[in-house]
Order: sequence, then C-alpha cells, then structure tokens
Amino acid sequence: MKPRNFYIETYGCQMNVSDSEIVNSILMENGMEPVDEPGEADVIFVNTCSIRENAESKVWNRLHQFKSMQEEMGENITVGVLGCMAERIRDKMLEKKQLVDLVVGPDAYRDLPKLLQKVDSGQKAVNVQLSLEETYADIKPVRTSTNGVSAFVTIMRGCDNMCSFCVVPFTRGRERSRPVESILDELKQLRDQGYKEVTLLGQNVNSYYDEESDTSFAELMYKASQVDPEIRFRFSSPHPKDFPEELLHIINEQPNLCNYIHIPAQSGNTDVLERMRRPYTREEYLALTEKMRDIIPGVSLSTDIIAGFCDETEEEHRDTMSLMRKVQYDQAFMFAYSERGRTLAQRKYEDNVPEDVKKRRLNEIIEQQMNIQEQLNKQEVGRRHLMLVEGPSKKSDQQLCGRTDTNKMVILDRNDFEAGDYLEVEIRDYTAATLFADVIEKSSIQEFNTTREKVVV
Ligand code: 5AD
Ligand code: SF4
Repeated sequence: MKPRNFYIETYGCQMNVSDSEIVNSILMENGMEPVDEPGEADVIFVNTCSIRENAESKVWNRLHQFKSMQEEMGENITVGVLGCMAERIRDKMLEKKQLVDLVVGPDAYRDLPKLLQKVDSGQKAVNVQLSLEETYADIKPVRTSTNGVSAFVTIMRGCDNMCSFCVVPFTRGRERSRPVESILDELKQLRDQGYKEVTLLGQNVNSYYDEESDTSFAELMYKASQVDPEIRFRFSSPHPKDFPEELLHIINEQPNLCNYIHIPAQSGNTDVLERMRRPYTREEYLALTEKMRDIIPGVSLSTDIIAGFCDETEEEHRDTMSLMRKVQYDQAFMFAYSERGRTLAQRKYEDNVPEDVKKRRLNEIIEQQMNIQEQLNKQEVGRRHLMLVEGPSKKSDQQLCGRTDTNKMVILDRNDFEAGDYLEVEIRDYTAATLFADVIEKSSIQEFNTTREKVVV
C-alpha cells in the first residue's frame, strides 16, 4: 500500500476514542501518517456513533461535507466510516448515496490496510463482521490527541445486557474480555510514558472476566491500582444489577482508585426499568447507592438518565425526578429517548411519548440536576482536594484546569504548574459545573492520603 496521510474524526463515547487509538496504531504500523486536519489527509475516517438519532444525524452531515470536499478536490481522497454506524447502514452508505468508499465495523480494524488497498484499486470496501473474540489485545494504541496525562484503556468489548432501548449489542456484538496481562502491560507502558490518570473502559465492566487467569473485574481493578501508586484509576461503566461489593472495599482501601462511580440508573421507576430490561428495582438501586456511600465515605456518584421512554407516565417521570433528588448525583448525563432500529423497544413498544413531552421532562430533569449540583458544589467551599492538573483552562492560559479525585472540574488562577502535577487545593468558589480553588501545595496521592484528615467530608 502506498504511504498516505490519514485523519480520524471521532464521535460518541470514550470507547470510540479508544478505538480510534487502535486504528491509529494499525495504520501507522502500515506506514501511514496521522494528520490533524482533514484538509491535509489522503484518507478521512469518521468514527461513528449510533446511540441516539441526533448522534447519527451529526455524522451524516459531516459525511456530506466530506463528500463535497472530495468532489472539489477530485477523486484523490478516500472517505471511510468506522465504528457503530458501519454495521447498521452500510448499504445505505455504499449503494444508495455513494457517500463513502470504505465501511469498517468495530471488530474489523485489523483488516483496514487490506480494505484500503481494495479502495486503491477502484472498488468500494466493506467489513462489518462482528467477532466473538477480537479484543485487539496485542495492539498498542497510539494516543495522538491526549493531554499526556489522562488515558483510556479498553478492558472488554461488546455487551450482552440487551437493555431494550440500546443499540450497542447490535453495533458492537457480544461481550468479551481482554486478557489481564495485556491490560497490565498497557498500564505499565502508560506509566512509563508519564500518564497519571487511566480510565478502564467497557460497555459493561462488571462482567469483565479473564478465564485464563480467573480474574474478575474487582481483582483487575486491584491489580491496576498496584501498577503505580501515583496513577489514579477510574472505570466506566458498571451496571447496577451486579455491582461487586468487594470492589467498593477495594476502592475505599486503595488511595489511587478514585472515589467516583458512574452508575447509570436510566429511570427511577421499577415498571419503566422492567420495560427497559434493566433487572433491578428502584429500591435495589437506591440500596446500592447507599451501600456505596456507606463503604466509601465521600464517594461521588454520577448517572445516565433517559427521559420519555415508551409508555412513560407523568408519575413514572416524577419517580425519576425523586430518585435523582434522593441520590444527589454529582453529575448526570441526561437524554431524551430516541428509538433505535432492531432494539427490543422498537419491536415491542410504541415510542409514544410526544416529542414536546419528552423535551419538557428532560428539561425538568436537567434543571433539577443543575440545582442539586449547585447545592453540592456550594458545600465544597473550604474543603481540600487533590487535583490532577490537565493543562491550561479553555478560557485562559493564565488559568489551569484539572479534576478532583471525585471527578469535579477545578479551575485555578495560576499557570505555574504543569499538566500531570498533583496539587492540594482548597475550594473557594463554585458554579453548578465547576469548582474554583487556591493551591495549598504541590502534593502526591500518597502524601495527600496521609494528611486526609484535613479533608472535611
Ligand atoms: N435513547 C436515549 N438514550 C440512550 N442511551 C442509550 N440508548 C439510548 C436511546 N435509545 C443512553 C443511556 C446510556 C447512555 C450511554 O446513553 O442512558 O447509559
Ligand atoms: Fe446499552 Fe445496556 Fe449495554 Fe449499556 S449495558 S451499552 S445501556 S445494552
């Protein structure tokens, strides 16, 4: 294959970011060079997301833009689609609209060099085959667009949960876990490269299980924590139906496992949860979050919520509102239900909550959540946290931004520290989304932990 420049534009979740890093690696091994602008590329890839209608529309618009660009510049550039939309709409993409030259699903990235050759010879190329085994375990991701401080590491792929609203099992296939040794090797490489924060990723991380070494998710997190006491670890996302209690104790005991858990509720009403095929009740979910708060004092919780799922009544919606008040999430990702092809909800239920009602419910949920966050952040004033500096803030290079262990964004009016520094900070001001802090001193996870009594929880 002739050496060429490529550009990847990534949409959707952290898993897609991580996949783009795998694609980087595969292409670079084959003599291709990554570039930062589509205008400089011979091959433009769009790594796509199908989770909601608006995610797909964004991608379609972008593909049309690239198509026009391709027409203006002649036939010399190749446009390819990667990721979750590949499987679902390959026919539409290739045959009807002739919009793209290449379609490659999330389990077929090893095939990219071959497929690009096919495109070179004037044909369209497609591989959307899903796999039962592929974990890209031996591929060393190339992280081209990070801050050098925080990284994502994929520990498993696919999802067997089959929540009725969710397209992921169809776009990403069956669940499979990456061998623990290959994960630990990657963590050690990240350590050697100076990374300070790693998020372990999977669609459904509690189900992680490495048969070969008989390693569970909780054991994997413990092993990760031992790679380096000065790297902090997070994970995303667990399922409330089988969150391992043992992991809560491990998080509490290991100072470098962050006191932050993203635990998607989706709804606060048991009947809705049943229609969603989420096998837990409102009460079980609440009991789980209480247990999390009991075992890990000061733990911060976040969630995903869907407003206006099929047949959702006003009362069921109010249950979601009240669940969110009860749990007092530090952060929430809130969405209006969007029907997806092939899902159980699409086949079995009617998408019958009118758009304006969905929007209104979503707005109520968002508004309430902003108030909760503002109240919670107000209580942070005067507290001390260990902040990991990520770099200059978006607004000004005179300011630094980073996160607390509890995953809250912090801004400092200083620029005399570097990305990757751990700082002990005291919170002085807040908004619903951000904390503003003063620096007490440069610190480390171990140092801060020994003086933790200073933190008012
Ligand atoms: N409509 C709206 N939100 C969805 N999510 C997943 N599928 C849908 C859908 N069809 C949300 C869920 C999930 C998050 C990643 O996206 O809340 O946890
Ligand atoms: Fe979708 Fe459920 Fe899997 Fe999450 S766990 S990706 S919501 S099917």
